Amino acid sequence: MSFLYEYFKHPRKIGAVAPSGKNLSRKMMKPINFDTAKVIVEYGPGTGSFTKELVAKRRPDTVLFLIEQNEEFCKQLSHEFRGEKNMYLIHGNAEHVVEYLKAYGFDHADYIVSGLPFTSLPGEISDHILNATKKALGDRGEFITFQYSLVKRDFFERYLSINDTLKEMLNLPPAYVFVMKNRKLAI
Ligand SMILES: C[S@@+](CC[C@H](N)C(=O)[O-])C[C@H]1O[C@@H](n2cnc3c(N)ncnc32)[C@H](O)[C@@H]1O
Repeated sequence: MSFLYEYFKHPRKIGAVAPSGKNLSRKMMKPINFDTAKVIVEYGPGTGSFTKELVAKRRPDTVLFLIEQNEEFCKQLSHEFRGEKNMYLIHGNAEHVVEYLKAYGFDHADYIVSGLPFTSLPGEISDHILNATKKALGDRGEFITFQYSLVKRDFFERYLSINDTLKEMLNLPPAYVFVMKNRKLAI
């Protein structure tokens, strides 16, 4: 219910009336190599659908950053994941991911998992987030995000290269998971 309530208060920022289901949450984890990941960032964890999977699958020494703009969701996350080691919950904006990583001594993330509603966020904010994401990924990091349609494909391609698109038909509504990386510069 808190999700629906927050949606009515901030429809463009929340972008969905209910949290993602288990099937989509699991599909979002598929591209991640949990044996090698040292730093994983999650944008917009909301009430923690993807976070639960990340916490269950990560190695204990993998550092997890959660960046959530909504105060109510931050309170719920800090309660649900209290005592969790190597996890930093930041009540902040995904636009500042590089600064948050630096503040804890990291210069890039191996994976950034996003629940952000790019279809409803203002274009300028999405631009800032994708520019910051490019920097935070470095040469090898991967950006994993879901969308309910393919309309934002071209927008993502302006910043990153889409290396894989997975479909989750068992989510309501069905969703696409895009897996992206920085383009390699030709020498
Ligand atoms: C569609 S909900 C997804 C929640 C959760 N990941 C899920 O799939 O159930 C989008 C989330 O992104 C958060 N959000 C929106 N803009 C943000 C921003 N610029 N920085 C961080 N979080 C943001 C919202 O507060 C909300 O929790």
